[in-house]
Amino acid sequence: MILSIESSCDDSAIAITEIATCKLLFHKKISQELEHSVYGGVVPELAARLHAEALPKILEECKPYFDKLKAVAVTSSPGLAVTLIEGVTMAKAISVALGIPLIGVNHLVGHIYSLFIEKETHFPLTVLLVSGGHTQVMEVKSLNEISTVAKSMDDSFGESFDKVAKMMGLGYPGGPLIEKLAMSGERKKYNFTIPLMRTPIIAFSYSGLKNAVRLAVENGTQEDYADIAASFEHVATAHIIHKLKKYFLTNPPQSFAIVGGASANLYLRSQIEELLKPHGASLLLSELKYCSDNAAMIGRVAVEMYEKEIFSSLNALDISPKSQL
Ligand code: KG4
Ligand code: ZN
Repeated sequence: MILSIESSCDDSAIAITEIATCKLLFHKKISQELEHSVYGGVVPELAARLHAEALPKILEECKPYFDKLKAVAVTSSPGLAVTLIEGVTMAKAISVALGIPLIGVNHLVGHIYSLFIEKETHFPLTVLLVSGGHTQVMEVKSLNEISTVAKSMDDSFGESFDKVAKMMGLGYPGGPLIEKLAMSGERKKYNFTIPLMRTPIIAFSYSGLKNAVRLAVENGTQEDYADIAASFEHVATAHIIHKLKKYFLTNPPQSFAIVGGASANLYLRSQIEELLKPHGASLLLSELKYCSDNAAMIGRVAVEMYEKEIFSSLNALDISPKSQL
């Protein structure tokens, strides 16, 4: 079995995965949404302190598995430096105490493998990752063959939902709150401009849209918020659809997947389903509970890395907050 730890942002999670079957034997996550909600976003130092409390509590419950562990895996990049270090320090301690190898996992690869929790892998795959930290399209052939073909030049899709929610004083995380509010609004009420429409480059940008929404919020009243949320969600999604459509002209998809916390967004899912129809491409999605950060996805990658004997030495494994794919 492999014990895996996730602490890259505001979720403390530990999983135990059986190597031979990929079966998830244990998974527990303690989220900090409530604690960060009053600030309208994640406060790194507070998150680190909460991980230091939560992770040992969860680990206590894993003790019955200790004598069966063959490796310990941990998210080591990318993420918040002060929170990554909490998980990595714990993983190193477990590695030394139990004399088992250490596996450093890239969080973005973890999101890709959230598709395969308790399942076989399925490649090649075109993947859209939409989370709080990333908006990117990747071509994935295997664990070691992942190439990023488009990414955000500034804010991410999920982050823009968080910021719009903060402008409206709704709390954190903004994604589910804006999605819910948008359901009672009119998508065409505000004519926000779709980002990067005039440039042929295939990339994403959310800072301009965010500022347009800020003006609408400042000039409107609370009664306008549902329409603003709906129009924002529509344009934020239309931007992704527009760029994917362009990308598909030269790279038609066979199998397509959406991963990351914001892949839970139903409007985005429905629009991508429509986009894939003419291509006859299949759409893969993670189970809703594994869209947002979790340790089960880190464990699933770790099984693959364990089989390929991709281990990290105790001294060499360091956190890498900004590492990309
Ligand atoms: O993957 P994740 O849990 O953490 C990161 O790796 O960043 O993603 C969290 C992000 C947050 O920005 C959150 O607002 C967004 O995903 N999110 C959503 C939805 N649910 C979560 N964004 C849009 N619509 C949603 N339903
Ligand atoms: Zn994530």
